[in-house]
Parts: sequence; C-alpha cells; structure tokens
Amino acid sequence: MAVLPIARMGAEILKQRAAEVTDFTDPALVAFVKDMADTMVGARGVGLAAPQVFRSQRIVIFFVPGGRNKGVEVPMTLMINPIITPLEEAQDEAFEACLSVPGLTGIVPRYTHIHYSFQDLHGTRIEREAHGFHARVVQHECDHLDGVLYPQRMADMTTLAYADVLQAEADAKGEELELDEEG
Ligand code: NI
Repeated sequence: MAVLPIARMGAEILKQRAAEVTDFTDPALVAFVKDMADTMVGARGVGLAAPQVFRSQRIVIFFVPGGRNKGVEVPMTLMINPIITPLEEAQDEAFEACLSVPGLTGIVPRYTHIHYSFQDLHGTRIEREAHGFHARVVQHECDHLDGVLYPQRMADMTTLAYADVLQAEADAKGEELELDEEG
C-alpha cells in the first residue's frame, strides 16, 4: 500500500486537462489505482481524481456513504475516461470540500440528475444514472480531469469559508450544518 502526496490548489497539474487512458493492459494501472484508493481512504475523502495525486490521466475513484444518499450506498467505483451528460436542467446547491483545497468549503451548484459512463480496468464501458449527492460527487471528481476546482463553479464566493469556523458558529447557534466530505 502506498499513500501518495496530494496536489493542492495552485499546482499546475490541477489546471490541466488530463489525458485519456488508452492502454488497459499496463500492469502499472492496477497498482496506481490501488495507491489512489489507499490515498483516498487515508485522507478520509469520498473521491479522488488522478491529477490530485500528480498524474494527469482521466482516472477517478469515489464512493457514496449510504447516510449521504437517502440510504443508498454506492460502493467504491473506479472510473476511467468518464463522460457526464446532465439529464435535466435542474441544479441544486450544497457545500463542497476538496482534498486539494484543504480546510475550506463553499456552496456549489450542480446538476441534480445525470447520466454518466466510464470504462473499467478491462476497458469495458459501463453506464449509470445518478441523483443528488451521488451526482454531485461524480461532477466534482470529473471536473478535476478538466482542470476545474469547485471554487471555479461557485455562484456566490461569499459562501467560501473555513469549515471549522462554519461548524463552530453553527454549534454556537445550535444549528445543524451539513458539510460535504472532501473529494
Ligand atoms: Ni476535489
């Protein structure tokens, strides 16, 4: 197992469009994906994209805890060369956080209902549909493959904040605050 260093906002690799994976026979691909999983789990994230660990390839892993998705858990999923298509115009807003933007959180609009497809380790393309938090995580992670971090998607920059400050203020007021896990 290997935990890889995580690129933080400002790193050039986070601004670039990552390259498609073309060689599904490369044994190094499996080893790299395992390292990505170790890194995501070690950082307590719900998603990780390859550029976040300094590799500019279109590879993402994520999972959705059941508690965040109306009880429907999405197990750890590896997506290679993913493609997203919004199925409705509708968007909703929620706090997001990112392992590459540690400590901060902000409200980001995202499509609520998407179709997405991706290739697995054998190169087989798999099709899925997602709503809500599941759709949000997929959109956040795939943005990393196009050099986009969530602050660039924010409609209202005044909501950008340190998560611990927001949490302390909500606690002081006895309010529930739903912050997103980092991805
Ligand atoms: Ni992220």
